[in-house]
Amino acid sequence: MKNTQVLQISDDAIRQAADIIRGGGLVAFPTETVYGLGANALDAEAVARIFEAKARPLTDPVIVHIADIADLEKVAINLPDLVPTLAAALMPGALTLVLKRSGAVPAIVSAGGDTVAVRMPAHPVARALIRAADVPIAAPSANTFSRPSATTAAHVVQDLNGKIDLILDGGAATIGVESTILDLTVDPPRILRPGGIPVEAIRAFVPNVEVVERYLDTDTAASSPGQMLKHYSPRARVSLFTGSPDKSLLRMQNAIAIAVGDSEQVGVLISDEPESFVDGLQMGNVAFVEMGQSLEEVSANLFAALRALDAQSVNKIFVLWTRRDGLGAAIWDRLVRAAEGRVITYL
Ligand code: TXA
Ligand code: MG
Repeated sequence: MKNTQVLQISDDAIRQAADIIRGGGLVAFPTETVYGLGANALDAEAVARIFEAKARPLTDPVIVHIADIADLEKVAINLPDLVPTLAAALMPGALTLVLKRSGAVPAIVSAGGDTVAVRMPAHPVARALIRAADVPIAAPSANTFSRPSATTAAHVVQDLNGKIDLILDGGAATIGVESTILDLTVDPPRILRPGGIPVEAIRAFVPNVEVVERYLDTDTAASSPGQMLKHYSPRARVSLFTGSPDKSLLRMQNAIAIAVGDSEQVGVLISDEPESFVDGLQMGNVAFVEMGQSLEEVSANLFAALRALDAQSVNKIFVLWTRRDGLGAAIWDRLVRAAEGRVITYL
């Protein structure tokens, strides 16, 4: 396929994108979490093209996006009593609900299962596209399978140029990590993936909610979609340091010095480390990428930072992360997966 067209947002661009979706094609579009790679959710062949473009295994189901709460009933059945409460409080937004699948949704969307994950994005472009297409849109994140998600149109081009029909460029995603996935088909309800809506916000409405913290290798993951350990991975090997901030920082500094001594190309993700830490490492060609200080900043910059270090061809990435509150839980989860479980803890 030739280069994929990238369009700035306009009424005409949305119309073109909607026509492509209705015709069975693939459009990458912005949402407030990350860019999605969309196809008509009611068209099994169109959805199959998503898996092909991403090189995603058919065992990993995709999320169905709707623009209006009333459309929930077109894709899911037997809605639990919690749905209106959650919808009123947290939707549209970075929340995905796992519900019983309606027969209208082809099995490939759900990897053959009897549930379906549904999300109503808040991003005006995503909503305009779904409304113009007049069908629910199945969309995983718009990255090659197991790579960091795309938070800008340029990231989508890096991974999917020539493999999809159109990219709508709506600027950088503001939240930067994917939606929180809440499974309402089990009792008590379960959070399958921490994301843009903090667990604390969900607990306010679902006090008995459970949080699944499981990381599986690729062989055992098939029975439990989305729990794959290797995910969001840059090409470089990531080491994640955690525990007591002072001790972990010292240990990470030592590990970096050793890697530099071994002539490794080293990259470091920086958040609120003291200036003296960066100054102390000015010996070799260490690449630093700032993610920002607040949880909101780090979450918005995380995937771009991993991709930026890949672009500088580093082969070792070091990062210190300790927070699990609010968005910190989603950031932690993405870093553990980017590190493929290489977590070094100093208490
Ligand atoms: O913020 C987001 O959720 C973004 C934007 C584009 O909406 N989408 C996204 O999609 O992150 P994806 O495919 O990268 O991640 C969706 C996750 C996968 O881990 C998948 O296994 C899980 O949702 N999932 C989808 N359908 C499911 C289902 N029926 N039951 C359990 N998990 C499901
Ligand atoms: Mg993804």
